[in-house]
Formats: sequence, C-alpha cells, structure tokens
Amino acid sequence: MKSPKRYTVTAALPYANGPVHIGHLAGCYIPADTFVRFLRLTGKDVLFICGSDEHGVPITLKARNEGISPQDVVDKYHKLMGDAFRDLGISFDVYSRTSAPIHHETAQEFFLNLYNKGEFTEQSTEQYFDEQEQTFLADRYIVGTCPNCGNDNAYGDQCEKCGKSLSPSDLINPKSKLSGLAPVKKQTKHWFLALDRYQQEWINDWMLTKKDDWKSNVYGQCKSWLDQGLQPRAITRDLDWGVKVPLEGEEGKVLYVWFDAPIGYISATREWAEREGKDWKPWWQSDESNLIHFIGKDNIVFHCIIFPAILKAHGDFILPENVPANEFLNLEGDKISTSRNWAVWLHEYLQDFPGRRDELRYVLTSIAPETKDSDFSWKDYQARVNNELADILGNFVNRVMVLTHKYFEGKVPASTFQVVDEVETATSNIFSKVPELIEGYEFRQALFETLNLARSGNKYLADAQPWKLNLETQRDEVAGIIAYSIDIVSRLSVALSPFLPDTSARLRRMLNLPAQFGWNDLMVTSLPVGHQLGLPEILYKKIEDAEVEAQVAKLEASKAAHQTTETSHKPVKDAISYDDFMKMDIRVGTILEAERVPKADKLLKLLVDTGVDKRTVVSGIAEHFAPENIVGQQVSVLMNLEPRKIRGIESQGMILMAEDSDGKLKFVQPNESVNPGAEVR
Ligand code: MF3
Ligand code: ZN
Repeated sequence: MKSPKRYTVTAALPYANGPVHIGHLAGCYIPADTFVRFLRLTGKDVLFICGSDEHGVPITLKARNEGISPQDVVDKYHKLMGDAFRDLGISFDVYSRTSAPIHHETAQEFFLNLYNKGEFTEQSTEQYFDEQEQTFLADRYIVGTCPNCGNDNAYGDQCEKCGKSLSPSDLINPKSKLSGLAPVKKQTKHWFLALDRYQQEWINDWMLTKKDDWKSNVYGQCKSWLDQGLQPRAITRDLDWGVKVPLEGEEGKVLYVWFDAPIGYISATREWAEREGKDWKPWWQSDESNLIHFIGKDNIVFHCIIFPAILKAHGDFILPENVPANEFLNLEGDKISTSRNWAVWLHEYLQDFPGRRDELRYVLTSIAPETKDSDFSWKDYQARVNNELADILGNFVNRVMVLTHKYFEGKVPASTFQVVDEVETATSNIFSKVPELIEGYEFRQALFETLNLARSGNKYLADAQPWKLNLETQRDEVAGIIAYSIDIVSRLSVALSPFLPDTSARLRRMLNLPAQFGWNDLMVTSLPVGHQLGLPEILYKKIEDAEVEAQVAKLEASKAAHQTTETSHKPVKDAISYDDFMKMDIRVGTILEAERVPKADKLLKLLVDTGVDKRTVVSGIAEHFAPENIVGQQVSVLMNLEPRKIRGIESQGMILMAEDSDGKLKFVQPNESVNPGAEVR
C-alpha cells in the first residue's frame, strides 16, 4: 500500500428504517472503527465518515404501513442509530444524514455535472403502474409468486425465501402492494449510466489488473459481475421521496437511492468541514488521500463498480483504494432479519449489558465474518467473555494490580531487569504483525495476536507464583516479577486500544498514565521506579447463565410473535367470481349457550340462534373468551360449511373471527344489533 498523506474512511450509511444490529456491527462498523483507531494510534491523519441512508422504497413502505410520513420514520431511526453508535463508542468524525439539505445539494450537483457532460442516456421503458393509486411501482412495491421456489410473497427485486434476485416481470401473478390489484405496464423515462461503456473504457482494467489484491470475497463478486458484462443502469426512479431530479419539468422523478446514498459520504465530509472550518476537498480529490469503504457484502457492487463509475464520470474525484467488505453474521444459526425481528439490537444490548461494550467488540471481532459467513450465539458470547476476557486478560491484570498494592504500596518496585522469551515474542509479534494484519483487514487474527500478550503474561505470572515467595528473603525476585508484569499491562494498554478502547482506558487509569502511549512506544512502555499506580478495577464481570438465558428467551419470544404477525400480512388471494362469493351463506346469529369442551383447551361448544334454526357450532376460541362472557353476543356464522365432527361433537358451521396482529381473536359482528338470520353479503 502506498503511504498516503491521509485516509478517508467510510462506513456504509445504514438505512434509517430499523435499528442497528450485531450483524451491521460485525460486518462493518467494528472493523472500521478498529481500523481508524489503529491509524490514529500510529499518528495518521484520518477522517471517519458515516450517516443515515434515508431514502429508498423500504422507508416509504414502512411509513405507509405505520400511517406516518417517511420523514417521521427516518427522524426516529436516525436518532436511534446515531445514539447507539455513539454509546458503543464508534469514533465517527461525523454522523450525517441524507435528508440534510447539504446532501440534496451535493447529490443534485453531481447529477447535473454528469448530465451536462452528456454521461447519461435517456431511455423510456415499461414499468409497472398502479392505476388505482395512479403511481409507478418500485420493485419492492410489487409482490407475486417466485418463479424459482413458488413463494407467494416474493418481491419484484428479490425472493426473500430462496434469495433469487428477480425483476418485477419475472413474478407470476404480480400484485401491487398498495392497492392489491394487478399492475399494468406503462412507459416512463429515466436516465441511465453507461456502465457497459465504462466497463470497456476503464473498469475492467482498473479492477481486474489493479485490484486483485482486494479481499477475495470482494474481488470474486466484482469479477463475476464484470464477466457477465455490465448493463446501462437507471439512476432515477418515479417516487416522491428522495432527492429530486434537478431538471425543469421532471416532477415526480427522484435519484435512485443507490445513486444518492454513496454521495452522502461526500455530503457528510462537507458538513464536517463546514463545522470544523476545514476544506473538504483534499479528502476526496487529492491523490495523496486513500479512500477506503467499509461495507457488508450486499453492498459490494455499489461500492466497487457503480459508485466508482459515478466518481470517475465526474472526473475530479479519487477512486477507492480498497473496499474491505465482510460476509454475513448469522444469529443462533438463522439469518439476521430486521423485518422478522431476528436480531440482537445494539441499543438493547447497551441497555441490557451496561458498561460491557468491549465484551461485545471483543466477541464480534473474534467471530467477524471476514472470509465467510459466521454465527453469533449467546452461549459462545458467554464462553468467550468468561474464558478469554475474564479468565485471561482480566485475571492477569487484577493479580498484577492487587500484588503491587499488597507488596509495594501500589508503586513500581525497583528490580533487576527481566526478560521472558514468551512475553517478548508475543510483544514483538504484535509490533511486527499487527500493522500488516490490520492493513490487510484481518482483524480477527490481529486481535488474537494481541491477546497472546495477555496469555503469555498470565502464564508467566501463574508459573512464577510470586505469592509463594518470601518477601523478606526474596524481595528482589518478587519485585522483578511484579515490575515486569506491570510493564506487560502497560504494553497491553497500547496494543488493545484499537480493539477494546474502554479496556485500554481502564488500564491507563489503573496504571495512572495521564496520556496514551503511541504505537511506537509499544516496546518502551516501562514505568519509572516509584511510579504510583491507581486502584485495581475488575475489568470484566462474568456473564451469568441467567443473563444469556434471558437473551435467548427474548429471541424466542420475538420469533413466536413474528409468526403471528406474519399471518396478518398474507398476500391477497387469487380473484374469485361474484358467484363464487355468493356460494357462501353467512348470517348473523346470537349465542344462546356456551360451554367448554372437556379436555380441549381451545374449544368452546356453542348453541347459536341462526334465525332459521338453533344449531351447535364448535369453535376454537376458548383461549380468548370465557363462556359466560359471550352468551348473548351476535356473531357471523358460515351456515353452509360441511358439518364436521370435532371431539365427537357435530359442528354445524363456523363462527367468523378476525385475528389481530398479536394473534388475539375478535368476533366479526354487526355494529348494531340485527335480527338473527340477517344475511351477510
Ligand atoms: N443503506 C445501505 C445498507 O444499509 C448502505 C448504503 S451505503 C452508501 O445496505 F454508500 F450508499 F451510503
Ligand atoms: Zn423464491
């Protein structure tokens, strides 16, 4: 890697339609923060940029579902995410957002710059249109049957069941998510980026010859895109939420979210520069700057091909030096999903485990999906915290502190100089290997090397057993062991700081070090004889079984809750004729009697006055209603359902119920009382 004057480090702008979870952290934000902290420790000039990605269709869908405006949605999550990142100690220099005016301005300038250079082609294409709602439908607004796996609820851009990426016209039986009706095709005009031309002109050459040192998961994905041949790509959409296309007479068109969002990195830099009274341009326009994008794997093509194409088409900008994307983190063996609420949310972790930020950083770095998908489980979290952090690092530091206070009044004792091979090897390994590992984005291994110093220190102290020596007759030996151990703690305070910033700060406080050592001090951290240490602190509490059990129970509860909500979002069923509908004989009846069915928790046996007769209906509502409370209620009865024997009782018809999203059942009943037998049509 060339040695640049400054580093422009970005972390993917998270969508403001849900909170941050551990998958985001392990995939992107923790490695980025570790990288940046390391660079700062080595004296580099770094700008660390992030913000909320506030455009795109999922946000408009969420707003619609909740009956609030898209701005309300993004305001809520922008704050939640920004606060959570801050509370975890992610050291962004700026956390901006794409609904900020400076971003709209920057993105529009970009569009106009490319437009005026003639970089775009205008093309009219057929898109699905919802006639009832009078609006074009983004891919996500169209659902239908997946041609690949038969899932009835596949989206126009992807089937979430089998993972296949789709285009809306692939769907069998497409329906608008807005009206539930089948959409029609209609012409609309959009602006396209000539990725096919760029591929021939420069992308192939740039990527395939100059970026083959990128992480293999990243390079592999890019290469397969290039091998398939790039196509022109629309960078506008018909939508009323987003950055408006800055051209006269083009109302209703906005920039595609993947056009504007990465430009958000630049807008955020401008926001930071204005605030700090600095110039933003060198960070983006100087050859002496290294641009590095930290992202998750679903963002690879956008950062490795499309955004570079936009930057290059503009002409004044540098291209990324590297895009160290991670793969995905799973949770307890299942794919993390915001919509299914299968996640460990950062803001909840911070609440449930106050003061234990480094524990999360440690575990997520140790299992980071750097080369392939990996799995987080609470059992594993507990084991790593207890057996590695607490038993090795925490135990070592605590012994050193307590012994120093016990034997030497908390002062660094005078002693003869010591070296222990294992400890020195661990230290020089850190010094020589960790920079390379971090610059190669191998944070797992870098952390492992770093923790080896604690391992060797812990082992050294356990073997030396100074507590068994006689302080009167063997004072020099004891002093030597303690002084050397203090030196190891001091080295750890430096080496751990990119990974575990709280731990590093606590070590400095225990060592009573006013300032942080720099990376190059790693080999010369000895404290002067007589230096007064601070008080011992417990670095890590053990994670109790009950704590992880509570977390697992919470996950299971969310899975169960989701399964009931899912039933309330069933897709609209296929059309039926009026005649089909009229085949059903539905009437209002009055419940005359109700009793429990013995040995059946869910069933009530009802006697219902249907106007034409009094009949018995067995209904699965016993968990929702007490028999004595429902006598006299009017209900809807499907009269001509074939009679069925349930628990030996013949049920003649069915009571119609509405199921709420929490799974609770309610009667479907007239809003005023009617004569029994009134027809429902
Ligand atoms: N919002 C996207 C996601 O969460 C990431 C956008 S990164 C940016 O997957 F470059 F577009 F900003
Ligand atoms: Zn499918």
